[in-house]
Amino acid sequence: MNYRHSFHAGNFADIVKHALMLWLLAQRRAAGAITVLDTHAGAGLYDLSGDAVRSREAEAGIERLIASEDRPPLIEALAAAVTETNPGGGTRFYPGSPLLVARRLGRGDRYIGFELNPPVLALLSEVLEPFDVAEARGGDGYDQVVAEAAASPGSLVLIDPPFEQPDDYHRAADTAAAILRADPKATVAVWTPMKDMETFDGFLRRLDQGGAGRALVAEARLRPLTNPMKMNGCALVVLNPPPGAEAAAGEVCGWVTERLGEAGARAEVWTTG
Ligand SMILES: C[S@@+](CC[C@H](N)C(=O)[O-])C[C@H]1O[C@@H](n2cnc3c(N)ncnc32)[C@H](O)[C@@H]1O
Repeated sequence: MNYRHSFHAGNFADIVKHALMLWLLAQRRAAGAITVLDTHAGAGLYDLSGDAVRSREAEAGIERLIASEDRPPLIEALAAAVTETNPGGGTRFYPGSPLLVARRLGRGDRYIGFELNPPVLALLSEVLEPFDVAEARGGDGYDQVVAEAAASPGSLVLIDPPFEQPDDYHRAADTAAAILRADPKATVAVWTPMKDMETFDGFLRRLDQGGAGRALVAEARLRPLTNPMKMNGCALVVLNPPPGAEAAAGEVCGWVTERLGEAGARAEVWTTG
């Protein structure tokens, strides 16, 4: 397990994922109490003065977002969450999905974040300690999430693997489809990198073969997908999205590609099937 999200925290891909997760959460909470399941939770909070300085990914991502003046509402919501994390100003700390979600839950809601790596789990447990409604759970998120989703109908699930294992695409697709089979009312968001089209198409085919149904695909391509060794973009694939998801995805991916992308950057939002 070599993956360290601290190198990537606050990059363009976190912006896409987190701005859309905040929107999905707000929609689902408006409909009543919610359980949020996070298969790959990470540490929950990142100090951008460490690994992120070397990678410079946060500099090209969240730092530019906070410095920008014309932020549409969904991007503004993420900016507000980052400001809340840095009450003294600046962008030293960046909230991961567990903290972003836990802060927005109320009585009757629940968050469970699964984390496989013990030292990261210890950090996550510390970050979630003040939140009665939130729980950090050790072990494999793929293995545990389907039973939890079945026990909490209508949950919101984030599947956000590091994609360092060769089977992450298959396991992510199979788990998402299994959740929908166990609970057709669940909303499942799967984050994937975009390196080349064949890998991404294979992932969508696998979802379809698993019976996951139609999916909203929110793509943010920072540059043309010509170098398969690079993360040229990312996608959030949402199964059973709430009404308005297409416009929300267009707002987030459009802003990210326009403001943070290179020549040839573009956003694509479309529905499979
Ligand atoms: C991309 S990071 C998660 C970021 C987090 N979702 C966020 O948005 O802030 C992926 C995390 O998954 C953990 N991980 C890897 N394989 C896992 C598995 N099978 N089950 C649970 N966690 C896993 C890694 O240790 C890493 O902390």
